Parts: sequence; C-alpha cells; structure tokens
Amino acid sequence: MKDFAGKIAVITGGGTGMGRELARQLVAEGCNVAMCDVSAENMAETKRLCEAGQLPQGLRITTHVADVADEAQVLRFRDDVLRQQNTDHVNLVFNNAGIGGGGSMVDSTREQWERTFNICWGGVYLCTRAFLPLLIKSTEGHLINTSSVNGFWATIGPGTPHTAYSAAKFAVKGFTEALITDLRINAPHVKCSVVMPGHIGTSIAINSRIIQTGGQFDNMTPQEFAAARTRMRAMGIDDTKMSDADIQTAAVDRARRFLEEAPTTAAQAAKIILDGVKAERWRILVGRDAEMLDQRVRNAPEKAYEPDFFKSFAEEVGWQIGR
Ligand SMILES: NC(=O)c1ccc[n+]([C@@H]2O[C@H](COP(=O)([O-])OP(=O)(O)OC[C@H]3O[C@@H](n4cnc5c(N)ncnc54)[C@H](O)[C@@H]3O)[C@@H](O)[C@H]2O)c1
Repeated sequence: MKDFAGKIAVITGGGTGMGRELARQLVAEGCNVAMCDVSAENMAETKRLCEAGQLPQGLRITTHVADVADEAQVLRFRDDVLRQQNTDHVNLVFNNAGIGGGGSMVDSTREQWERTFNICWGGVYLCTRAFLPLLIKSTEGHLINTSSVNGFWATIGPGTPHTAYSAAKFAVKGFTEALITDLRINAPHVKCSVVMPGHIGTSIAINSRIIQTGGQFDNMTPQEFAAARTRMRAMGIDDTKMSDADIQTAAVDRARRFLEEAPTTAAQAAKIILDGVKAERWRILVGRDAEMLDQRVRNAPEKAYEPDFFKSFAEEVGWQIGR
C-alpha cells in the first residue's frame, strides 16, 4: 500500500503511545481512523491531537471503548466501526494494544498472568478474527500485528521474570509469519507485517499497572513488595536497606525513566512502522536497539539468556531498563 489517503485504518490501543502516534500520522496523510482502547479519556485526547491540523473534508476519526481480550466487545467494536465509518470494508488493521505484567509463573497470580497473555495474544487473535473478513473485502488490505523484541528474545534482563508477555509476543510473531503463506494462497491482496519494537518511550509501564490492578499506579501490594525484594536479592542488591516506600518510589521512577530515556520516541516508532507498511515489509524492527538485538540473538542463540549477554547488549545500546 503506497498511499494511505482515503483509506480506513483500525487501531487497537489508540489511547496513548505508539497507537496514538499511528493515528496522528495516518490522519495527517488523509486516512480515516477508527480506534479502540479501554480508556475513553485517552482516546479523546488522541482525537483532539489528530484534529489539531487541517483535516481533509469528510475524514472520519471514530473512538470506541473496547477491551480487545473480550470477544463480545471486539465484535461490538467491529460493528460500530462499520456503522460509524459508513463502510463495508477496512484497509489497515493495527493490532497494537498490549500490556506488561504477570511476569512470573511462580509468584504472579494466574489472573495477572492471563490478563497480560489474553490482551497481548488474545487481543491480536480476536481482532484478526473480527477484522480480517473486512480486510479481505477491500481491494487493498494490510494487517499489522505488534509483537516486540520479546517475540524473539524472551527476557528484559536477568533480574525480571517476563513469561506472560514473552509467550504472547512469540505467539503474535509466529501467527503473523504463518499468515504470510495463508494470505498469499487465500487472499493475495491482503498483506501482513509483524512489528518488533525495541525500547520505545511510552507510558506502557504505568498503563499496564493501571489495567492490571483496575486502579492506580502507585499502590504496590505486600505480595509485590515481597516479589520485588526477591528480585533485588537475586541481582545481589541488599534490600534490607530499603523500606517499602523506597521500593514504591523506585518503581514510579523506573516507569518515568522508561518513558523519558528511551532511544526511540513513539512518534519515531510510528513513522518506522508506516514506512515499513508502505514498503510492504513483513518484518518491521523498530529502533537500532531492536536491529542489534536481532543480530546478537541470531549470532549466539545459546547465550541469549546469560547475564553477560544482557550486560554487553545493554551497554552497547545504552539501555537503562532491566539494569
Ligand atoms: N514501549 C515499548 O518499549 C514497547 C516495546 C515492544 C513492544 N511494545 C508493544 O507496543 C504496543 C503499544 O505499546 P505502547 O508502548 O505504545 O504502550 P501504551 O501503554 O502507551 O499504549 C498501549 C495502549 O493499549 C491500550 N490497551 C491496553 N490493554 C487494552 C485492552 N485490553 N483493550 C484495548 N486497549 C488496551 C492502553 O490503554 C494504551 O492506550 C504494545 O503491544 C506493546 O506490547 C512496546
């Protein structure tokens, strides 16, 4: 797809981060956008930002509250898109919504684990089920599924278990790669791409916690303090010198730094993704860190989970996360 003008794009998780920037850049190119999110307030802000520029006459930006892990809500989202965009097809579907959390099979609750997996994998699956027929109805369609570098490397450093997210992102990558052949045979006018971002400056750490707990960001539970202390000890840090309040403050600070100290901004990431779609690339690595990690894991797969592999990679790209 060389040109987005006049097309219709669906974006999941359009409330903040990369979803918001995809919406802004698509609208700037004259593309109609229908987005969903669990936050109506954040989508209203995305819509306001999209409308700040000069919009082509008749361009539609619609917002839909829907949880991508809930099939009934996804189907209602699809039906509302058809009605409010006044269409029988769509051209682009960005399965972008995702959260972290539920990292450990040992000390996360099953509920936390499955919430992350069901959004990051289940959301991609359910939205593909719902929207693929509408892509097939178009004359030119493209499905873009956001995985992560955690789709080929299942860790964010030796001090943090990361099982639910990694399992989901590997699933998104495998599913999308298998779709290449399926679509080539059964719907050759529809393309697909898997997006694998490195560290991108977004509020995902804060949003994930709000979605996981259904509430605030800065309210760690006694179990979470205990898990944080276990991780600190595993990394050789003396946790006895830190109060629970210190640990809470450090978590808030880490989330702020995740947003502010990333090597790639959400706007830069959205541009890389959209350029990749225009070039019909099926694999879109986002950021120099993602490209370097891809190479390193290929060069030494057996070493990928060794502390030294992480240390030397983090030093080379300047990653602060996981350190
Ligand atoms: N930020 C990074 O470093 C990074 C790296 C690799 C991959 N990713 C992936 O990129 C995608 C976008 O993340 P981001 O960093 O822009 O984060 P973000 O938190 O800024 O944006 C994600 C959006 O998805 C929404 N969302 C979450 N759960 C939802 C649900 N069940 N239904 C509907 N909407 C939901 C959130 O409310 C939020 O608006 C995610 O899939 C994430 O896993 C991010």
